[in-house]
Amino acid sequence: MPLDLAQRTTFEKSLYTPWIFNEMIRPVLYLQNHNDPEAVHEDVLNTVGEEDVIDIFRKNQRLFQAPENLRITLNGRRLTPFGTAAGMDKNGDALLAFSYVFGFQETGTVVVNPREGNKRPRVATDNKKEDLYNAQGFPSRGLSYFKTNLANLRDVRGKPDSCDEFNPSTLQKYPLVYVSICGLPMSEENAIDIAMKETETLVRELELGSDAFVWNPFSPNTATLTKLRTPQIFKETAELIKKYSPAKLLLVKMGPYEDNDTERKQYLDLVSGFLEGGGHGVVAVNTKMFPKEQIPAKDWGYPSGGRSGRFLKPYRMRAVSETRKAFPNAVIFATGGIYDGNDAYETFKSGATALEGYTPYTFHGLGLLPRIQRRVAERLRKDGYKNLEELQLEARHGANLVA
Ligand SMILES: Cc1cc2nc3c(=O)[nH]c(=O)nc-3n(C[C@H](O)[C@H](O)[C@H](O)COP(=O)(O)O)c2cc1C
Repeated sequence: MPLDLAQRTTFEKSLYTPWIFNEMIRPVLYLQNHNDPEAVHEDVLNTVGEEDVIDIFRKNQRLFQAPENLRITLNGRRLTPFGTAAGMDKNGDALLAFSYVFGFQETGTVVVNPREGNKRPRVATDNKKEDLYNAQGFPSRGLSYFKTNLANLRDVRGKPDSCDEFNPSTLQKYPLVYVSICGLPMSEENAIDIAMKETETLVRELELGSDAFVWNPFSPNTATLTKLRTPQIFKETAELIKKYSPAKLLLVKMGPYEDNDTERKQYLDLVSGFLEGGGHGVVAVNTKMFPKEQIPAKDWGYPSGGRSGRFLKPYRMRAVSETRKAFPNAVIFATGGIYDGNDAYETFKSGATALEGYTPYTFHGLGLLPRIQRRVAERLRKDGYKNLEELQLEARHGANLVA
């Protein structure tokens, strides 16, 4: 339903003042959607897809443009290194709206066949700690639905070969879409073959409109995916994706690991396999599984749930710094509870190439993004760096010295 004038004005103000989202808009959304966080999220995605809301983003896009000294060059493109994390827009419904907001979007995870996922309710919030729990079980509208949304975005905002790079005078910016994909075996039988076949289909079908692929074998609620988590399968999957998409950025989504040698080695061996197969790096970290008893929701209907948000910080920081140390030249996209600019800055300093977010925006709205960017720019200035790339070079150099 189109927003009325008062709603439009409040929403527009929240982009400049995040507490308006947290304290005024969010409670109303929860009231209207019977306290179901997933229904709230769907409501928001529907609303941001409306022409009048897209207009608000278009009109205010300057607010979200990072200053030049925050932009980086990655795989031949200029990139503002702040984007959405996978799951926030699983089916590409908000690609156009978010293209005026984020430097890039990691959209999906897209699977070949439409899936309902688990029964609802399957998402819960912890409002005090600002964490989310989910047991969605990979719901998706499937490849052809997503492909139509991607094609629509390209029709409106231009295709790679017809678009110039960012042009500050016109604010024309070619929107970067990184597609999270997963070949999804439904049973143990032939699981690896099916996963490979579906991954190939996804890459061939989406190669034209996407700027990067992120392979996601780490959905925590999907048991058959565990079969894919060996260094050899990581290598073969990277090789397969490279075969059909040789020039594009290729990352793998990684789950969190504990601070012990066994889990660290398992994590680094998987990353090593992926890089050996031609992948460029990782997105770290995915949600962390928690047992039902620890989930602060009445009648949670699943034995466990994946937790995201603030509490992921130590897992994210560990994965970033240890990946950087082991693989100084890897591309590292960091996600997991990045709520403020100081945290973002420290994550870059530990070796991150770019940052993604999902849970923080569900609590504070999109007005969080310009705040984070401004603070990172301030910290760079204060610490005497000309730009973000200088800080990143230093992080890589430091890793080279200790590697
Ligand atoms: C409800 C929900 C759904 C998610 N779905 C996906 C998904 O489809 N694919 C994926 O790679 N990650 C998915 N994630 C994980 C996020 O991409 C991210 O790794 C994690 O939430 C930590 O970041 P955050 O604290 O900024 O949310 C999902 C997270 C949530 C909360």
